[in-house]
Amino acid sequence: MAKKIIALLGSPRMGGNTAKLLEQAIEGAQDAGCDVEKIPVFHLNFKPCMEIFHCMENEECKIKDDMTGMYQKFREMDSLIVAAPVMTMGIPGKLKMFMDRFQVFYMAKYFRNASFISPEHRKERKMLFISISGMNIPNVFEGAKITTKAFGEIIDCPYWDEVLQNDMDTIRDITTKPDVMKAAYEKGYRLGSLLMAEEERA
Ligand SMILES: Cc1cc2nc3c(=O)[nH]c(=O)nc-3n(C[C@H](O)[C@H](O)[C@H](O)COP(=O)(O)O)c2cc1C
Repeated sequence: MAKKIIALLGSPRMGGNTAKLLEQAIEGAQDAGCDVEKIPVFHLNFKPCMEIFHCMENEECKIKDDMTGMYQKFREMDSLIVAAPVMTMGIPGKLKMFMDRFQVFYMAKYFRNASFISPEHRKERKMLFISISGMNIPNVFEGAKITTKAFGEIIDCPYWDEVLQNDMDTIRDITTKPDVMKAAYEKGYRLGSLLMAEEERA
């Protein structure tokens, strides 16, 4: 059976530079034999976490919206690709809202000590992070990486590798950087190959 990867697009621009890099990684993972589901976060209709804390004692969120179907998908997936431009030195607000709604996973794992993800499944789950920034300044990806790594721990899909490109205000079009496009494809392919090798061993 093919392994399942979710590819989260955290940019509002469907044909933007983040989206182009994500497409490369998706193609790589598919070429390695994986099924990839792309989720453009900006197309989803959902509320921010309202701190109702229903999830302290329940395996679901009290708020019913486009996030409702996500939890099962994120339990089942075998790996995750997150692609996001840097906004205000972090990840875009809507992607952060998306991650915050995984308090449902946080409470299960850290409050009830009963993660939704088995230790065996966690071992194979990996996160590939793709990010670009307008500026070329030190630590421009630090905020985005701190949040994304924390999210990876909460959902038991640890940060594994990254493709980062700064200075997009100068570069403008990521297709003029074939080395970066190739890196995204290759890391997607490597992720897919590692998962498919696990599948063959099982
Ligand atoms: C609201 C907003 C905030 C941004 N904040 C930053 C920032 O803090 N640092 C930075 O280097 N670039 C920043 N940028 C630039 C984007 O990271 C850059 O334009 C990126 O290439 C956009 O990716 P896209 O083609 O996927 O839209 C910001 C862009 C927007 C729209």
